[in-house]
Amino acid sequence: MYNETDLDKMYRNTAPPDREPERQYYFIEACRKKVREESERLGRPLTFCVTTFGCQMNARDSEKLTGILEQAGYQPAEEAEADFVIYNTCTVRENANLKVYGHLGLLKHRKKERPGMRIALCGCMMQEPEVIERLKKSYRFVDLIFGTHNIFKFAELLARSLYEGGQVIDIWQGTDKIVEDLPVERKYSFKSGVNIMFGCNNFCSYCIVPYVRGRERSRRPEDILKEIEALAADGVTEVMLLGQNVNSYGKTLEQPMTFAELLRQVEKIEGIRRIRFMTSHPKDLSDELIEVMRDSKKICRHLHLPLQSGSSRILKAMNRRYTKEQYLELAEKIRREIPDISLTTDIIVGFPGETEEDFQETLDVVRRVRYDNAYTFLYSKRTGTPAAAMENQVPPEVTKDRFDRLLALVQELAKEQTARFAGTVQEVLVEEVNDHRPGFLTGRMSNNLLVHFPGEAAQIGQYVNVRLEECKGFYYIGRVCYTD
Ligand code: SAH
Ligand code: SF4
Ligand code: F3S
Repeated sequence: MYNETDLDKMYRNTAPPDREPERQYYFIEACRKKVREESERLGRPLTFCVTTFGCQMNARDSEKLTGILEQAGYQPAEEAEADFVIYNTCTVRENANLKVYGHLGLLKHRKKERPGMRIALCGCMMQEPEVIERLKKSYRFVDLIFGTHNIFKFAELLARSLYEGGQVIDIWQGTDKIVEDLPVERKYSFKSGVNIMFGCNNFCSYCIVPYVRGRERSRRPEDILKEIEALAADGVTEVMLLGQNVNSYGKTLEQPMTFAELLRQVEKIEGIRRIRFMTSHPKDLSDELIEVMRDSKKICRHLHLPLQSGSSRILKAMNRRYTKEQYLELAEKIRREIPDISLTTDIIVGFPGETEEDFQETLDVVRRVRYDNAYTFLYSKRTGTPAAAMENQVPPEVTKDRFDRLLALVQELAKEQTARFAGTVQEVLVEEVNDHRPGFLTGRMSNNLLVHFPGEAAQIGQYVNVRLEECKGFYYIGRVCYTD
C-alpha cells in the first residue's frame, strides 16, 4: 500500500492507476487522508449518512456507497448529525422526485448552520437533464452530483470534491462497464442483495428506468457465484438476486446462460439457505424456471410477478408483450406446480386511455389470481417516455377513484390469502427486534410473510420454527415452537 504521509502529494503528482478497481482504492486512500486531517482539526470523527429512495437496486447501491465512506474513515450517524449526507435518488414516479426536492430544502438550512457539511446526490434522478439544470441553477449548495452509470467512481469523485471543492458534477449517458470488487458494507449481517444484472431493455411505455439505468448488462456467472460464496463465508444465509428483469439474465453474455441455470448454481453454494430474486417479467418466465423453483429446497416460496394491467389492450399500449390470458395461464401454472407459493404483483391505475372496462379487467385478474399482496400505483407521467406523449390521459379524480376500489379489493384478498397459513408452523429467519412490541422479534417466512413473536435480540440472523397463532391481516403473531 501507499505511504499515507505522501498521499496528498501523490494525489496531485502521481497519476492514479488506470485500471479498476485499483484506481478507486487509490482514491479511497486519498479521501482517508483528508477525512483524518479534518477530524483531527475538529477533535472528533467525521460522520456520514446515506439516505436511499426507490427500489432494492438502489438499496444495494447504497451499501456500496456506505462501504466506500467507511473505508474513507467516515462513521455512520443519523442524517441530522451527519457531516456528509448523500441521497441516492429514485425517479420512477413524480412523487419520488418531489420527495428529494423537499428534503433538499431542509438540508440547505442545515448546511447554513454547519458550514463544514457536504451534500451529495446520486442515483436515477440525476440521469435526467432537467434535474441537473435545476440543481445547477437553484441548488448550488449541493457539493457532489453523479449518476447511475459512474457510481463505481464514487471514491474518485469524493476525492475531487474534498481536494478541489466547488460543485462537482459528473453524469454519464450510458456505460457497458461493470466494475467488480469494490468495498461494500451490508445493512444486515445475515442477508444480502446481489446484483446479477444492470439496466433494462424492455421500454415499457410508462417507465423511465431504461432511460436512467441504461441497457441491460448481465454480470458474469463466475463473478456472481464468487460474490455469493464470499457472502456465505461471511455469515450470509439469504441472498436476493437483483435485476429489473431477472428472467432475461444471461442473454447478452459471451457464453449465454439462463436465469434458471444460474439459480441451480447458486443453490449449490454451501451456507446459503434461502434464495430470493426480484423482479420477474411475465413475458420471459420460462417453464425451466418454474421447475427449478419447484424442485429447490432453497428458493423461497415467493414470486413477485408484476401485472401492471389486466386489460390486453392496455398491456399492448404499455408494451408489456403479454396478454391478460397469457398472464392468467402463467399464474395458474405456477400455482399448480408450486401450491404453497405466495404471488405478489405491481399494478398501475390510470394509464393513458384506460377505460372503466379496462379497469374491470384488472379487477378480474386480481380476483382470479388472488395475490398474497399487491403494490398499487397511480400512473405518473414521466417526461421522455412514450406514454407521456399519449393524448388520452385519465383525469386524476377518475384514477383516484379506481385506485381506491382496487386497493380495497387487493387488501380484502390479501387478508384472506394471508389467513390460509394460520395454525401452521413455519421456518422464519429472525430479522430484527420489533420496535412496536417490547420483547418481540420480527421474522420472515420463505413466502415473504412477516411474523412477530416473543424472543431476544441474540436470535437475530437465526432460523427458528414459529407457530402462526394469530393472523393480523398482512402479518402474524406467533410463538417459537421448540421440537427436540
Ligand atoms: N422492472 C420491474 C419494475 C421496476 S419499477 C418490472 O418490470 O416489473 C417498479 C414498479 O413501479 C413497476 O412495476 C410499476 O408498477 C411502477 N411504475 C413504473 N413506472 C411507473 C409510472 N410511470 N407510474 C406509476 N407507476 C410506475
Ligand atoms: Fe420499467 Fe418495464 Fe424495465 Fe420494469 S421491465 S424496469 S417496468 S421498462
Ligand atoms: Fe427508482 Fe431507479 Fe429503482 S428509478 S425504482 S431507484 S431503478
